[in-house]
Amino acid sequence: MPCMIDYKAADHLLKDKVILVTGAGDGIGRVAAKTFAAYGATLVLLGRTISKLEAVYDEIEVAGGAQPAIYPLNLEGATHKDYVELGERLGETFGRLDGLLHNASLLGKITPLEAYHPELWQQVMQVNCNAPFMLTQGVLGALKASEDASVIFTSSSVGRRARAFWGAYAVSKFATEGLMQVLADELEHTGTIRVNSINPGATRTQMRRKAYPGEDPQSLLTPEEIMPTYLYLMGADSRGVTGQAFDAQS
Ligand SMILES: NC(=O)c1ccc[n+]([C@@H]2O[C@H](COP(=O)([O-])OP(=O)(O)OC[C@H]3O[C@@H](n4cnc5c(N)ncnc54)[C@H](OP(=O)(O)O)[C@@H]3O)[C@@H](O)[C@H]2O)c1
Repeated sequence: MPCMIDYKAADHLLKDKVILVTGAGDGIGRVAAKTFAAYGATLVLLGRTISKLEAVYDEIEVAGGAQPAIYPLNLEGATHKDYVELGERLGETFGRLDGLLHNASLLGKITPLEAYHPELWQQVMQVNCNAPFMLTQGVLGALKASEDASVIFTSSSVGRRARAFWGAYAVSKFATEGLMQVLADELEHTGTIRVNSINPGATRTQMRRKAYPGEDPQSLLTPEEIMPTYLYLMGADSRGVTGQAFDAQS
């Protein structure tokens, strides 16, 4: 798998780009949003907890970034209509979308398939897999209006080689890789929209703590430390790179 952890982004790599990040209120999504803003992008912060999105909004403003937009949406309950509306709002406000980071996910439960609760299974598949499909469909028109657009899906090591007890999370990440590949293949002819996936690798966030409660968080890379691959794929240096599965850590 390609890895760009040593990539050094130019100062204004994302100047004038409009980028939407899902799950922008916490963990990797929060840091990705702030990082993209620091490199010049205007952010659309999408997530379910408004207070967290407001905190990220404030941090971006204090750091001197372009004024972001907050888009509260719970991916679990959102329907096709919500995503069509999102696409329309992006079109009206910005005229286009240059970057989309599908980052929000649910871990679900680490438990054998035999004991996996079907309702939780559907919840995880809805947030991790169905929502990114519907969201992408809703904003495709805005992505097509960009001269140079990048879509990034977030995968996981268990989305590339499954492991016991990872249940719906692992299956949803395999589906995410499939979604990325189908979309990349369908859009390759455009020459303007690239579509790739990133496996962040073990990263110091709430989700990781929930999955590995006994682990020392200090032994893990921070979200800030895994940003080079995100920047590489979001910026023009990755033009022409599509349909590939990246690792954020070597
Ligand atoms: N951390 C790791 O070691 C690791 C490893 C491999 C892959 N990943 C992947 O990396 C991505 C980010 O993970 P993370 O560790 O940063 O997780 P996190 O700290 O749990 O953050 C996840 C974000 O997604 C949001 N979210 C969850 N359900 C949502 C919903 N229904 N609607 C809208 N937003 C929702 C959360 O919102 P709230 O803040 O409101 O809860 C939160 O902002 C995920 O796709 C994860 O699968 C992480």
